[in-house]
Amino acid sequence: MRTVRTVAELRAALSPERRAGRTIGLVPTMGALHDGHLSLLRSARERCDVVVMSLFVNPAQFGPGEDLIAYPRDEARDAGLAAAAGADVLFAPEAAEVYPDGFATTVSVTGLTEALEGAHRGAAHFHGVTTVVTKLFNMAAPHVAFFGQKDAQQAVVLRRLARDLDFAVEIEICPTVRDADGLALSSRNAYLAPADRARALGLSRALLSVERAVAAGERDARTLEATGRAVLAEHGVEPEYFACVSADTLRPLTVVDGPALVAVAAQIGPARLIDNTIVGADVRAGEPETESIPCNA
Ligand code: PAJ
Repeated sequence: MRTVRTVAELRAALSPERRAGRTIGLVPTMGALHDGHLSLLRSARERCDVVVMSLFVNPAQFGPGEDLIAYPRDEARDAGLAAAAGADVLFAPEAAEVYPDGFATTVSVTGLTEALEGAHRGAAHFHGVTTVVTKLFNMAAPHVAFFGQKDAQQAVVLRRLARDLDFAVEIEICPTVRDADGLALSSRNAYLAPADRARALGLSRALLSVERAVAAGERDARTLEATGRAVLAEHGVEPEYFACVSADTLRPLTVVDGPALVAVAAQIGPARLIDNTIVGADVRAGEPETESIPCNA
């Protein structure tokens, strides 16, 4: 695996591959790699001839008072893990390479960014994400870019970005990777003391309770939210939001009669955690559901 730090070096590394007709897969990350990131790299390895991982803790997507400074950074460790998972090129630019002096452009997706995370962290978070991802798409010009379902709203926003701006990139969303007890892997889990980690399990358990309720025939979104909130309360967790929304538009649902995103965010001690599940993918109005994605798989 080769590490490059400038856009010129990245393009020089990729252009012969592109000319030779090889497919390029991009896995954008902020480092602090765990099995969730590695699953994206493995998917890219399977699908693409050349795998590029970007490692950049993007200041533009952190709000004031968020954990930009504290965000865990260990490039040597990440480089070893990325190479072992099959990355060919590690693109690890300095902030000045991505945001040179006088940088004045923001790419923003409206509407979708105002719900859920946007309502709590501010839509500026997503404008930071869409700006940096636009730049990464232009820098690496990948055929396929890999993102995780763990950040469900980010996935919806980035699909819309690629569609609206006609990026010639296929967006592949990979399933959420969890610890054996159900906790979704996150770089921020590193902040959790043992007692907080036990409380954090409330998130995946609350989502599982909603999956079970839908499988048992419950369709009322408010009832499903109450079911999940009760499980959170049992774990001593007061969520920032626990919401059942359309998986496509992110608008609140009254009834689950098609794919619904159930999304949760909560501050657990020092860590702000998010998790989600999709329910109702097979539901037609009035029919019981036949399949669900277990949150404790
Ligand atoms: P980061 O939080 O480092 O995540 C990088 C990618 O890994 C994202 O696509 C995220 O959804 C995915 N991921 C994280 N945890 C996962 C898990 N448990 N299972 C599966 N995939 C998981 O998301 C970002 O960085 C940034 O916003 C970025 C897209 C890199 C732009 O700066």
